[in-house]
Amino acid sequence: MKAFELRQKYIDFFVSKSHQEIKSAPVVPENDPTCLFTTAGMHPLVPYLSGENHPSGKRLVDCQKCIRTGDIEEVGDPVHLTFFEMLGNWSLGDYFKAEAIEYSFEFLSSPEWLNIPLNKLAVTVFAGDENAPFDEEAYDIWKQLGIAEARIAKCGKKDNWWGPAGLTGPCGPDTEMFYWTGENEVPEVFDPENKLWVEIWNDVFMQYNKKDDGSYEALIQKNVDTGMGLERVTAILQGKPSCYETELFQPLFAKLDQIRGVDTPAKRTDSERIIADHIRAAVFISADGIAPGNVDQAYVLRRLIRRAIREANKLGIDKAFVLDLAQIIIDDYQEAYPELSANEPRIKEEFDIEEKQFAETLVKGTREFEKLIAKVPAHITKKIISGKKAFFLYETYGFPLELTEDMAKENGFEVDRNGFNKAYKKHQEMSRKGAEQKFKGGLVDASEQTTSLHTATHLLQQALRQQLGEHIKQRGSNITADRLRFDFSHDEKVPREVLDKVEFIVNDVIEQKLPITCQEMTIEEAQLEGAIGLFGDRYGEKVKVYSIGDFSKEICGGPHAENTGELGKFKIKKEESSSRGVRRIKAVLIK
Ligand code: ALA
Repeated sequence: MKAFELRQKYIDFFVSKSHQEIKSAPVVPENDPTCLFTTAGMHPLVPYLSGENHPSGKRLVDCQKCIRTGDIEEVGDPVHLTFFEMLGNWSLGDYFKAEAIEYSFEFLSSPEWLNIPLNKLAVTVFAGDENAPFDEEAYDIWKQLGIAEARIAKCGKKDNWWGPAGLTGPCGPDTEMFYWTGENEVPEVFDPENKLWVEIWNDVFMQYNKKDDGSYEALIQKNVDTGMGLERVTAILQGKPSCYETELFQPLFAKLDQIRGVDTPAKRTDSERIIADHIRAAVFISADGIAPGNVDQAYVLRRLIRRAIREANKLGIDKAFVLDLAQIIIDDYQEAYPELSANEPRIKEEFDIEEKQFAETLVKGTREFEKLIAKVPAHITKKIISGKKAFFLYETYGFPLELTEDMAKENGFEVDRNGFNKAYKKHQEMSRKGAEQKFKGGLVDASEQTTSLHTATHLLQQALRQQLGEHIKQRGSNITADRLRFDFSHDEKVPREVLDKVEFIVNDVIEQKLPITCQEMTIEEAQLEGAIGLFGDRYGEKVKVYSIGDFSKEICGGPHAENTGELGKFKIKKEESSSRGVRRIKAVLIK
């Protein structure tokens, strides 16, 4: 089965079980200051898992675009992907364990759906600990469905517990489903440690709330959150050793072969995998409104593109190739993700500039390297480039250690590899800390200050549109209790006089004490009403539209203040460039 078929089957199956399909949220979380990217299907749904009403109902199914950059240095090994799609079905206080497990079982084993022989399936359930008991219910349901007891393993929190997404919040035991990938006979007894058993699906039963003091209480609303990695499961069902061997990556590899003028090799290299993975992730990040830059998501995008170019250089590719690969991804995925073709000209323009700029950077880095070695007096016999300097070249100019080492060797130098590794480790620890930042989803908290700033963001966007034009579109929003940060599409610096006017308009609306109201409607209705916001391709889907008097109307998940009179005085603190074609405003409310 091809990946796209699996995606469609999954959606069709759950739609046939009265689930509403919702489209993927962007890979860049909206308003959420706690993390850079959407890392799991549940991430955009956290507010609804915590009890807020979802406009599409209590049973949802989706395929969420996810980015996990914690693994960026591991890409190239057979399993890691920076971008992947996560299939998920959701019960928001509707069905629970029995149906969730029955649905999973039917989808996996029914001849109408995946038709996996029962003999190739095994499951794990939560064994119980001091916080929560053994999940006997899940165990019994699997048994009743026909899974042999020897194929049901009980595991601890490390394996069979998911969440909370932050330090506190909804969480619960899960049950994971495994598929036998071995060639020989399937062992009767399931051993989760045996690597030939591969996890294919995870059903999380969110029935607890983890509290500040670390204790767990029963959740009022019991939810089901499930996750199936599309690429991984496709590979497993096709009997392929990795995602990279599936049809999803073959056209990219074929293009690379063509560019290099080589025949299809028997095995793909790490470099080829890194290039394909990174350009794929880059296209999806860019399609959601990010341009390459030096901070946050923009920096990750830049790193992805530049790392792909370096790897291409290693393969002997010395001409532009990024656009060729991006085109394949846009063409292949545009049906499922129309935002790719909708943003095609912008994506290509930005990739093109980035590729050219990086070529210049490489030239500058080489000059820097030459300066560096010229400083070492000729009489010194043991010529060393310190680890710190090698790391500087890596960090600033994107020089891989191997490149610095090659250049060093040509000039009679040696590179202090240990020193480089030390500097690299330190940097990695720092970025890992960033990657491990736990996400909250939606607003960071529901405090008065945070919700007021969220409302002020809507006012700001509308005021900017009035002053600068309708090309102003939200490119990112990040709100803490202290300030708002709003990124928007605009090519040039916004003069202080214009910012003053924007401030004046926002404060005027605040003084008018306008009520803020919320209505649920379909995307089409929202569009007809002139609402702004992320339409994506969520046609037919129900959304929430927040109106601030007659001043602003925007598709948004909320929450908001009730009346603009509560907001206080609006002040723009800073206006700066965020990345190419994107400006950033930081503003506060003074109460
Ligand atoms: N939230 C669960 C996961 O990401 C389903 O695995």
